[in-house]
Formats: sequence, structure tokens, C-alpha cells
Amino acid sequence: MKILEKGFTDIEIDPSLDLFAEIEQLKKEKNAIILAHYYQEPDIQDVADYIGDSLGLAQQAEQTNADLIVFAGVHFMAETAKILNPSKKVLLPDLNAGCSLADSAPTELFRAFKAKHPDHLVVSYINCTAEIKALSDIICTSGNAVKIIESIPQDQPILFAPDKNLGTYLNKISGRNMLLWNGACMVHEIFSLEKITKLKIRHPQAKLIAHPECEDAILRIADYIGSTTQLLKYTKSDSSNEYIVATETGILHQMQQDNPLKTFIPAPPTNNCACNDCPHMKLNTLEKLYLCMKYESPEITMDETLRLAAKKPMDRMLAISRAAGLLG
Ligand code: 13P
Ligand code: SF4
Repeated sequence: MKILEKGFTDIEIDPSLDLFAEIEQLKKEKNAIILAHYYQEPDIQDVADYIGDSLGLAQQAEQTNADLIVFAGVHFMAETAKILNPSKKVLLPDLNAGCSLADSAPTELFRAFKAKHPDHLVVSYINCTAEIKALSDIICTSGNAVKIIESIPQDQPILFAPDKNLGTYLNKISGRNMLLWNGACMVHEIFSLEKITKLKIRHPQAKLIAHPECEDAILRIADYIGSTTQLLKYTKSDSSNEYIVATETGILHQMQQDNPLKTFIPAPPTNNCACNDCPHMKLNTLEKLYLCMKYESPEITMDETLRLAAKKPMDRMLAISRAAGLLG
């Protein structure tokens, strides 16, 4: 057996093992909690203790009494758990599970950009590295971004990073003119306005629901815009029976479970591949989850000075969310 620095290789798992039962057993033995994002594959969602959006996952990671946090998500999410709850061991089934948004803001380029705008307050979307968090004044998620921006005085110039699409959406909602970093999510950029328009003609009763990481052209025609948790809640409270869903397809699993009689159609991408599957999120598998819990590796570790600097803007975000009663 070999355990590589970034994950597992050539470990054969006995095919007769019931991985669901094994994972449940490991949870008890190790006092572990599995936190999963909605974009994880259905099997992982089914075995998770908590499934949520980035805000909910951060709140759970901060509050948990478990000894082991197993993060079924991407690297910046597991890093966030370590920032907020450093005494816990935090595991990520595949350390290669990155994020195109986080990758779009390299630390030194961002530091130089920030230095050119010393009068600007830096608000960063949680989809960024610990280094970018440490250079930020406040963090936000898609679930609390409007409240975070509203909490800042109108005359305070803001630099928003790294998602230009979420930034454009927030500028519209808040009437601000935030300076935007030019980053984007590879999944949410791919939706085809033309194909969605045609789909709407064929399904006139269907509502288009979209994540704010989508491009402005898609958001303009959306019936509802929200974080993954907000989209899920909307499909439960809304009276329609059919939805075109413009976000990563993993969310359809919970939507379908919560609304067995409703129809959910993934919004079509510009080409014919499964591009609205996040290749980073989908690196995690049930097998890797099992191995990572069994061998307690790969683990997220962080320099303490960096962690403390990244925690400050996270704490501000969590305090504003608490005061506004926002839960992920
Ligand atoms: P939320 O789940 O916070 O809406 O974020 C979506 C996303 O792209 C996470 O990577
Ligand atoms: Fe990053 Fe987009 Fe994947 Fe979310 S869906 S992890 S923002 S690349």
C-alpha cells in the first residue's frame, strides 16, 4: 500500500465491503463528522452528517465537537474548517480537489493589485485560498454576500475578489461600483443562453433558477438567484413543478429527494460534454472517503500565522451572518 502526499494510490478495497456500513463504523470509532457540499456525488451526500452550502459548512465546521472533520468538498472548504477549528484533525479525501475560482487569484498578483488600491476595503468570496483570505478585510459566501456588502458604509470603496460574476451581480443589487477581480468559476461560466432559451420555450412552465456565479446574461433571465442552500429551499417553498437548474448538477440529488414529484432539468452548457459537473468536486469518491477516514490522510495543515490572519475576515463574516440570523 502506498499513501501519496496528496491522496491514495493502488490500494485495493475488498469489493465485498459495504462501504456505507464501514464509513458509519469509522465515524463512531473515531468520533468523526462528515461535512459534504451539495456538489458531491450522491453516495457521499447519503453518507454525510451534514450537507450544505459554503456558509453552512463553515458554520458547522466552527461548531462541531467531533475530533475528526472529514470534508467532502474542495480544498478551500477544508482549509476554511481548519482556519475556524484548528484543534480538530481535518481530512480531505483528495488534496487535488481545487477550485478554478481560487486558482484565478494567485497571491502575489492579488497582493500587488490590492497595493494599488490602498483606500479600498477588500471583500473576498470564500472560494479563495487561505493566503487571499489573509489579505482580505471580510469574507462572504453566496448565501450572505448581499448582507455583507450592505453592512459596509456606502461611501467606502470596495475591491471584490475573485468572482467577477458574483461581483457584477452584487453591484447591481446594491447599486455599488465595486472594483472586481477578473476571476470566474469554470462550471458556472459554461451555461448556454441560447440553449436555455430554447429549453424554456419547450418547457414554458419551468422556472430558471441560477447560482450567482453564473454570467450576467443567464442571471438576467433567471426567475430566482441564490446560493445552493437558497436554491434548494426555493424549490421546496415554490409552487412550480418544473425547474431548469443553472448550477452544478450535484444539487439535483437533494432537490429530487426533497421534491420527488417535481422535475429538475440541468441547464445545458455551451458544448456537449458534462461541463456542469465540477471536475474538482467530483475527484472525491466514496472509496477515497473510506480510505481517508481509515488512514486519517490526507490531512489539511496550516502555518499558524497564516491561519490567524485568514481567521480575522472569516470571524467578521460569521459575526455579521449571526447578527442577521443567516444560516447556510
Ligand atoms: P455555495 O454552495 O456556497 O452556494 O457555493 C457554490 C460553489 O460553487 C461552491 O464551490
Ligand atoms: Fe470552484 Fe466552481 Fe467547482 Fe465551486 S463549482 S468548487 S466555484 S470550480
